[in-house]
Amino acid sequence: METVWLNGRFLPAAEAAVPVLDRGFIFGDGVYEVIPVFGNHILRLAEHLLRLRQSLAAIYMESPHTDAEWRGIIEGLLERNPGGRDRSIYLHVTRGVAPREHVSRAPLTPTVFAMCNPIPERVHDTGLSVVTHADIRWQRCDIKAISLLPGILLREHAQRVDGSVETILLRDGYLTEGAASNVFVVRKGEVRTPPKCNFILPGVTRDLVIELLRGANIPCLEAEVREPELFAADEIWLTSSTMGIAPVTRLDGKPVGAGRPGPVWRAADCVYQEFKQRLGAMPVAQPAPARASG
Ligand code: PDD
Repeated sequence: METVWLNGRFLPAAEAAVPVLDRGFIFGDGVYEVIPVFGNHILRLAEHLLRLRQSLAAIYMESPHTDAEWRGIIEGLLERNPGGRDRSIYLHVTRGVAPREHVSRAPLTPTVFAMCNPIPERVHDTGLSVVTHADIRWQRCDIKAISLLPGILLREHAQRVDGSVETILLRDGYLTEGAASNVFVVRKGEVRTPPKCNFILPGVTRDLVIELLRGANIPCLEAEVREPELFAADEIWLTSSTMGIAPVTRLDGKPVGAGRPGPVWRAADCVYQEFKQRLGAMPVAQPAPARASG
């Protein structure tokens, strides 16, 4: 049976339980991280833990663990849940258990939960179908908050419209991101993704893809994408820890470019897969090189 981590110990998932007054359960008062693991290499752990600390700071919390402790928890989960090459680690911190008041009076002990999940093998031959929608989320999308109802409704919308898998969001005429992914567009060979701000999650895969593209001499700009530019794109890609770089071939029921994964995506994905393979081949304890390392 799957082993998870809860508040200081490893235990079978079926035995892990949180009190009903946990503020995560009552208010969605907490933050999370999803970290991909290729082979035994934890991808960009420092960057994921930095984002976790930033999310926690934004909700007036401190990290309950040092980076070394987080690494120990993650490696413990990987050892206890062997199998499958690509996996993801889910980290979840809530403000803790307290009587239901919006602002808790007493200092609380955070609830810390972590689990390991397989990343399903994805074949991007046909590409993904996505829809667009107004970005109905709040103004702090840079916080990786566990309160995900807007994102869930937006993906549910995509599913109900035409079985699409993701919703690309538009705010005041500009592209922000996907409900659970960042977005890249390609027009006349130039790759563009919106700059980081409070309306998008600073995706770790996004940053890695920008770095890999530049390393491969594929021009990539961090610049605003207006709504008409999204619809005129030759290619659209989604990026996330669990999807990697996924080509979008249908937008609102119409083909994107030629309706097939495009040549720039092919080049980008090739660089990304090579990068993954290099990491997966590295033993666990090997220190990562300084640049484009993982
Ligand atoms: N989601 N934007 C949003 C709103 C996201 O939820 C995610 C990831 C991303 C991509 O970030 P990264 O490249 O660091 O995974 C962008 C994760 C995978 C999830 O909620 O399961």
